[in-house]
Amino acid sequence: MASSTMPIVLSLLLVLCFPYTIVVVSAGQAPCGYKRLFSLGDSITDTGNLARVTPNISTMAFPYGETFFHRPTGRFCDGRLILPLLTPFLAGKTAEDFRQGANFAVASATALSLQYFKDMGLDVKKIPPFSLDVQVEWFKRVLHMLGPTEQAERKEIMSNSLFLLGEIGGNDYNHPFFQNRSFSAEIKPLVPKVIAKIENAIKELISIGAKTIIVPGNFPIGCMARYLTKFKSNNPSDYDGTGCIRWLNDFAEEHNRALRLMLERIALKEDPSVTVIYGDYYSAVLELINSPRKHGMYHHHVTCHVLPSSVWDISYH
Ligand SMILES: *[C@@H]1O[C@H](CO)[C@@H](O)[C@H](O)[C@H]1NC(C)=O
Ligand SMILES: *[C@@H]1O[C@H](CO)[C@@H](O)[C@H](O)[C@H]1NC(C)=O
Repeated sequence: MASSTMPIVLSLLLVLCFPYTIVVVSAGQAPCGYKRLFSLGDSITDTGNLARVTPNISTMAFPYGETFFHRPTGRFCDGRLILPLLTPFLAGKTAEDFRQGANFAVASATALSLQYFKDMGLDVKKIPPFSLDVQVEWFKRVLHMLGPTEQAERKEIMSNSLFLLGEIGGNDYNHPFFQNRSFSAEIKPLVPKVIAKIENAIKELISIGAKTIIVPGNFPIGCMARYLTKFKSNNPSDYDGTGCIRWLNDFAEEHNRALRLMLERIALKEDPSVTVIYGDYYSAVLELINSPRKHGMYHHHVTCHVLPSSVWDISYH
């Protein structure tokens, strides 16, 4: 992608993907004209990092990729995700590879560290050791590649880049949910810890000069096939009018409320040159669930493809 097209791609991306979902939390400059994009997160934005450390994942993830790329690329979506073609950190080597930015997102990654889940006693085979703080360290390496000598140069790079931090945190709940952990005793209490991790990452990026950060929230997990299957209920009152499980959506909203409060706290403290934007993925997905046909979807409550569990039976270390 030529550098001159990048700002256009980014603004298109925002218009196409967040037509009603962007909420500017602080009153900084409007997002436009960025020279590069740095993305941290999980499978929602992984463009090939997990595939670099999991040799067979691309072939196993088939048919993802068949429609647009005509081959699996390590993206967890058949389309193009919500990102332009951004070099995955683990696939790039030189400053030139990251001139347009870099993607640090890793499928299945968590906000909390791997050690946290080990201490919880979870089976961590499915949790990559690339949590948010690891991704922030990767980012710093790229920043030093792009601006190796002068701090002023790095500040400049920070200030004219757009940061997409997330969605991240969903997997912090997904992993214990699918390992049968107690919702009230173990999963719900994770929320403030996850939010604190995201807060640390935002503050760290701001402290080295980031000026515009988009922080998306969690999805309505009570509408997702995987959750609908696992938490199937015979009690009709567990479901809302569109067939989603209420308590799970309430939980996703609880995370999102805490996230927004934290973003507002940061925005109040930072100077007006910093813009923190909440990305309302929750409402965007609910719109797809509520009006699937309007968006060309016909089977939104069933899953069509599940990665074989053998995908994860590898060591990352
Ligand atoms: C990867 O795929 C090849 C060919 O299908 C297979 O022989 C090999 O055992 C697989 N490796 C892993 C780590 O699963
Ligand atoms: C969770 O519970 C289900 C249903 O009882 C069981 O099939 C599954 O193996 C359990 N998973 C784990 C990781 O314990």
